[in-house]
Amino acid sequence: LVLVVDYGAQYAQLIARRVREARVYSEIVPHTMPVTELLAKQPSAVILSGGPSSVYEPGAPQLDVALLEAGVPVFGICYGFMAMAQALGGRVARTGQREYGRTRVEITDPGRLLEGLPPVLTSWMSHGDEVTAAPSGFRVNARSPRATVAAFEDPARRLAGVQWHPEVLHSEHGQQVLERFLIEIAGCRPTWTSANIVEEQVERIRAEVGDARVLCALSGGVDSAVAAALVQRAIGDQLTCVFVDHGLLRTGEAERVERDFVASTGVKLVVADEEKRFLDALAGVSDPETKRKIIGREFIRTFEDAARRINADGPIDYLVQGTLYPDVVESGGGEGASTIKSHHNVGGLPDDLQFTLIEPLRTLFKDEVRQVGRQLGLPEHIVNRHPFPGPGLGIRIVGAVDAERLRILRAADLIVREETTAAGLDSSIWQFPVVLLADVHSVGVQGDGRSYGHPIVLRPVSSEDAMTADWSRLPYEVLEKMSTRITNEVPEVNRVVLDVTSKPPGTIEWE
Ligand code: XMP
Repeated sequence: LVLVVDYGAQYAQLIARRVREARVYSEIVPHTMPVTELLAKQPSAVILSGGPSSVYEPGAPQLDVALLEAGVPVFGICYGFMAMAQALGGRVARTGQREYGRTRVEITDPGRLLEGLPPVLTSWMSHGDEVTAAPSGFRVNARSPRATVAAFEDPARRLAGVQWHPEVLHSEHGQQVLERFLIEIAGCRPTWTSANIVEEQVERIRAEVGDARVLCALSGGVDSAVAAALVQRAIGDQLTCVFVDHGLLRTGEAERVERDFVASTGVKLVVADEEKRFLDALAGVSDPETKRKIIGREFIRTFEDAARRINADGPIDYLVQGTLYPDVVESGGGEGASTIKSHHNVGGLPDDLQFTLIEPLRTLFKDEVRQVGRQLGLPEHIVNRHPFPGPGLGIRIVGAVDAERLRILRAADLIVREETTAAGLDSSIWQFPVVLLADVHSVGVQGDGRSYGHPIVLRPVSSEDAMTADWSRLPYEVLEKMSTRITNEVPEVNRVVLDVTSKPPGTIEWE
């Protein structure tokens, strides 16, 4: 276990991910965690993250020197590097000269940490203070234009640090620097693999669940599919999955869950086919928030009905949820067992259905979830699926939702998906909403006459986490093909437009 101490910048998660990429398990802890508590977790190494503060600021997060004296290998990055220097009696100066962005780092004395790297690295820096003298016993490994001490190490005490951010993509050989610390200095063994994750989780789930029964809501997305497959691997038929088909899915999606997911996992699946119920409830409603509320409410009711029916055959004690590590960290990183509070898709369950949650993915990042899915034999189209909103096409029809409008949108969306895949663009696009402006008409000429049809909006975006996004620069030929096919094959549509708005200010979805 490697602990990443979070000094409050956005970098801790990235560091933790990079450590996992080195096949070493990592977790994030807040910088306020007392050293005794941190050491009680018996980390094989500790990494101090960067942070927004200056070590001089009043109230700047402190580093307890006891951590550096405990015999545990410690690696400081940026703020963590300066905090380490200061705690051990080195000198940190406020130079007032910021070094920000791509910076040339010159390796003056590679030592253990930088051995085997090229003599000059382009690295990502972001600092205002500067270490001007390393603590005694340390050797200085590198310098940059604004930092005479840009990296140092004390291999005897297994302490080291760098001023730059090796975890960001723009830092050349950054992963190698982290691995040099983890493997060569700290002696961590790279044993964290998806096969091990599966094995470990399967054992844990078996131990926790015993012979109790377990329920899982499948959404068709990656997370719930992998969580369900993992639990299925552990306890087989004690698991029942419920898939609510609200009729707002894209062409072929319900069939994929019903057919491919069951075929690749052998899971016991109950399908609640409730298209009519949802469309009746949505009739005539065009306000986006009202649509979302209606869909959420009907979803809970449908799920409850199914759960009660299943519960009637014998009590269900556990509910599987596909919570991922970033959600855990962002909600305060709470540890230990939790009982149900809310669910991304399920919303909240009534009192007569009390479950204990099982969250087999709560230590994993998204890319690890995908690897685990592959390890469990799930097909690529499930494992690589783009994110899709719970309310489905209900929030991709601007205007009221009905069966006819859904048919039009599905037809256009299918063309877009086919052409995206044919152009080999699936993995470079984060998500590709296709939106029907159902209340808008525009004039066109189709066939021999005037038409008065609807526009379809293409909204391909690139993103890392959906918090921010940019519009994808798709090749014109691909856009042309999509546009031509949609207007030819879907007669109700006479115009195809491209959304070129980033997020912010636009959101990814239109509603
Ligand atoms: P926005 O449109 O806010 O979307 O930029 C960010 C991400 O969240 C997805 N999304 C949802 N997912 N239920 C979900 O499960 C929802 O109600 C919902 N609304 C938006 C959206 O597809 C994008 O990935």
